[in-house]
Amino acid sequence: MFLPRSTFQLTFVCLTLFSSLLWISSYHVGSGSNSPTFLSGHRAPTPPPCSVHANVVVDEPAHDPIWDVQNRTLGFQKIFAISMPHRTDKRDYLALMGHISELDIEFIDGVNGSLIHPHAIPSNWYGDNGPGTYGCWRAHLDIYQRMLQEGIQSALVLEDDADWDILFKAQMTEFARGTRHITNATLPMHSPYGDDWDLLTIGHTGVDNNPGLDQTYWVTKNDPTVIAEKRRTWGRKPDLSAPTLGGDHTRVVHGARKLTGTASYAISLRGASRVLYDQAMLMNAQAIDTALSNMCRLGKWGPNFCIGAYPMIVGRYRAAGPRDKDSDRRAETNTEQGHSLPQSKAERFEPESEFTVFPVSLNIERLMRNELIIPANAPESDLVDKINLHDFVLPRGGPVFVRQNEYASKEKSPPATPGKRVGRSLGHSNS
Ligand SMILES: *[C@@H]1O[C@H](CO)[C@@H](O)[C@H](O)[C@H]1NC(C)=O
Ligand SMILES: *[C@@H]1O[C@H](CO)[C@@H](O)[C@H](O)[C@H]1NC(C)=O
Ligand SMILES: *[C@@H]1O[C@H](CO)[C@@H](O)[C@H](O)[C@H]1NC(C)=O
Repeated sequence: MFLPRSTFQLTFVCLTLFSSLLWISSYHVGSGSNSPTFLSGHRAPTPPPCSVHANVVVDEPAHDPIWDVQNRTLGFQKIFAISMPHRTDKRDYLALMGHISELDIEFIDGVNGSLIHPHAIPSNWYGDNGPGTYGCWRAHLDIYQRMLQEGIQSALVLEDDADWDILFKAQMTEFARGTRHITNATLPMHSPYGDDWDLLTIGHTGVDNNPGLDQTYWVTKNDPTVIAEKRRTWGRKPDLSAPTLGGDHTRVVHGARKLTGTASYAISLRGASRVLYDQAMLMNAQAIDTALSNMCRLGKWGPNFCIGAYPMIVGRYRAAGPRDKDSDRRAETNTEQGHSLPQSKAERFEPESEFTVFPVSLNIERLMRNELIIPANAPESDLVDKINLHDFVLPRGGPVFVRQNEYASKEKSPPATPGKRVGRSLGHSNS
């Protein structure tokens, strides 16, 4: 890339789109060669889907790393997906999802909790336990350990049922504008998300904000990729009663006080070292999502230890078939200890995608066919019933400062008290 990046990227996007269209038309009229030739001279028998780039609008200067959000790791250094080695079915799914979305996803072996040596389980383990919970916890810690060992500056962590929107790269570009705003990041910076963050929760199943503090948000109104309130079936919700935060299709980027679920989050090297310290050396070892949530809530490492997107950007895919195949964490037990309900064996007849509007999972075939019209997942409540990738542009967000007294609720969350033993919070990710 010796061209200025802005020129390069735009040219690349346009060429990709244009070549694909040329390819489609030459194929259909049967004229000339039926495989396109790119300017580089390489023959490309199967043009890659270009839709993942087509809708990203970046007008920041060429030296701004925000351009990297469009790269194959979303501007993080790595994307890791945790999956049990025996769930080859889920790896097939993730490989397809990565290919279609132009993302490099590296598999990390999930851990069979029954095989962890008893000495390696912290003696002060707190709350929910059992092999499924230990295994899940260990797999996340293995990632943090590797980041420290290899100097990996940032990673996006996915669990193996993660599903994301066709507009993921555009959404993450906007999210990056939000994290930079909340952390006061200024150029130059290394990461497109700014260089002062620990944990970015983008695939939770519920998150809180902190209405007890005056604080700033990044708010995008009328975003067609935001699911309506009636589709938000989880329990933990932020207080968005301040008028500037309202709207059924508003996404906010915000300081997160608590979170549920670890379907997807990004962690920086600094965040990885802090969580590893907390979980391996302090007396705080517990189910990983509760552990992360408590670190957010206690604020020991600053009020912005966790930054969230609400509603979440990464959702969840459920394959057709018996429901007890969904989660390896639950399958791997905790049932005999009586901590989790046994999973239903009931059949699911159609694959499902929750929490996103234009999920890649349910649109893989359309994308492989280079179709441009993508239907909304729940047209009765989503903002629009379809989009045309040819000209769709995600709306831009902006900063919003909210004072404590602008929220409707009178009840304010008490200030965090670091150092105290923390209570077990209910509600875990199913994975
Ligand atoms: C994407 O960008 C990030 C941030 O600049 C960088 O660390 C990473 O190596 C890039 N990934 C790829 C696949 O080029
Ligand atoms: C996990 O290990 C236990 C104990 O060896 C074994 O019974 C079980 O089948 C293993 N589970 C998987 C999924 O490998
Ligand atoms: C960002 O700057 C504002 C205004 O100076 C300040 O109130 C806020 O605490 C800063 N936030 C961070 C995370 O440094």
